[in-house]
Amino acid sequence: MYTALYRKWRPMTFDDVVSQPHVTKTLARQVAEGKTAHAYLFTGSRGTGKTTCARILAKAINCLNPRDGKPCLECEICRAADAGTLSDIVEIDAATNTGVDDVRELREAAVYTPELCRYKVYIIDEVHMISEQAFNALLKIMEEPPEHVKFILATTEIHKIPATVISRCQRFDFRRIREEDIVDRLMYIASEEKIDLEADAAALIARLSDGAMRDALSLLDQCIAFSEHVDAKTVSNAAGIAGREYLFDILDNAADGDAPSAITTVDGLYSASKDMARLCDELIMQLRNLMLIKTVPGRPELLSCLAWEAERLEKIAAKLSLGEILKKLEILQDCAEALPRAVSKRTEFEMAVVKLCSQRRVEGFDPPADVSALERRIARLEAEIADLRSGGASVRPAENIRKAQPKAEIPGPEEIPEPAPLPEQAAPPPSRPDTPKPAPERCRRWEEVVERLTSENPGFAGSLRDSEAMCAGSTLYITVSNSFAKSLLKSPENAESLKRAALEVLGVEYKNILARAASGEPSEPGPESRSPIDELIERAKSAGVQVVEE
Ligand SMILES: Nc1ncnc2c1ncn2[C@@H]1O[C@H](COP(=O)(O)OP(=O)(O)OP(=O)(O)O)[C@@H](O)[C@H]1O
Ligand SMILES: [Mg+2]
Ligand SMILES: [Zn+2]
Repeated sequence: MYTALYRKWRPMTFDDVVSQPHVTKTLARQVAEGKTAHAYLFTGSRGTGKTTCARILAKAINCLNPRDGKPCLECEICRAADAGTLSDIVEIDAATNTGVDDVRELREAAVYTPELCRYKVYIIDEVHMISEQAFNALLKIMEEPPEHVKFILATTEIHKIPATVISRCQRFDFRRIREEDIVDRLMYIASEEKIDLEADAAALIARLSDGAMRDALSLLDQCIAFSEHVDAKTVSNAAGIAGREYLFDILDNAADGDAPSAITTVDGLYSASKDMARLCDELIMQLRNLMLIKTVPGRPELLSCLAWEAERLEKIAAKLSLGEILKKLEILQDCAEALPRAVSKRTEFEMAVVKLCSQRRVEGFDPPADVSALERRIARLEAEIADLRSGGASVRPAENIRKAQPKAEIPGPEEIPEPAPLPEQAAPPPSRPDTPKPAPERCRRWEEVVERLTSENPGFAGSLRDSEAMCAGSTLYITVSNSFAKSLLKSPENAESLKRAALEVLGVEYKNILARAASGEPSEPGPESRSPIDELIERAKSAGVQVVEE
């Protein structure tokens, strides 16, 4: 009968366990020094060696000729343990025996001395699965364990283990296995098994198994079922990731805002019985890759994809800003959450796809391509609003903005409430020869203003240390070094104290304070984050300016 590779190659001793030296070395030392604990808790992600190490430890503490704390693998105890015939080493899979009765039985059995071994060892695997009552029963024995009993609990879900249990155990955290360690182990096992495994195929397997050695060996098993010679192509076929161009097609369509094509692709996949939740997860994975391309450029080894897919991803990434990618991720994460509850999964997913394709640029990450156009629109709207405030005398229609005609509808300056500092604020408008507004100029005595502010509001003043200011009319434009400083400006108290300081130092009563974080400093995207242009349009509308949007 064929034994799966991962079973066949389960390490028999600490030396064969890779990537967990902090665990294996410590355990071997404890055994060598005879200082083992009563109870251990092995935790960490799946397939990283918890069960394996539990078995090795159980052998090591009972081995008749341990060497440096490692089991000899030759004595009668080691051999019986490896054959699984040793009654003193009891493995309980809590995934199937979750009841309090099992633990009670264990308690009763635990009082008897071991048959052959020095210690009776109870390995309770997947211990997070046992019931609350069973945990309580377990605690009772763990509180006063007989001298001859040891417990090794293993779990992937430490947060489900009661603190009372955790505190009675010596805890070891198993790490995800490093890719290079997986590659080495795969190459070693392949050579022993006479499997023709190419190095880049091993690397791909390691990449796809996300730090789990069991997954890596299972995937290798699947590959050899496909073909005797294992190369990257075999791996991608076996892993079912070959021919997933549709993912990149959908993302490409999303980047181009091409909803019809994206929906057509989804429709095709749906007809071919593709599971929508799975598709959603796959897209999330690729969006994560896009996010990494943007955040850590030039590190293709961080991406979980095939080499030729990375090229395609690079092209898609070039069309998107980081903000847009994060927004798209958010849309799909929400969709993934909603899908299990959705009446029509297809509709739910299609909605997300339409959103992906119609989602607007998120400001604050990468500037949109045409910054100057945006700035021109901001300047225009600023001028409109400021004019309106000063009585509307010099208002002139701009290309896309018309003022509401009947003058009576426009509130007079005294009726316009003093605006609170803006939640999202604009960059200083560039000077335009045809605007009646003064061009913004550098505020020369800005340091003095900040200095003055220090006595009244030191914390806020500190956040303005590296800021710069421009002024135009009654508007002060401040460029702060980070979004935190910008957020401080949103507080009306802070804005007021800044206005006072400016009045005292510069003799000017500023009515509006607009702030922006220096470029390169992202502000959190989110449903509430709006572009400066949206903000201005809204303000213009509320002030009675009729705005026709482009
Ligand atoms: N650190 C490791 N070194 C070498 N092989 C490993 C390691 N971890 C896991 N393996 C391989 O994966 C198989 C499964 O490992 P094991 O059962 O110990 O994982 P686990 O951490 O208990 O996982 P789970 O949480 O899923 O139970 C082993 O039989 C072995 O082939
Ligand atoms: Mg296990
Ligand atoms: Zn032995």
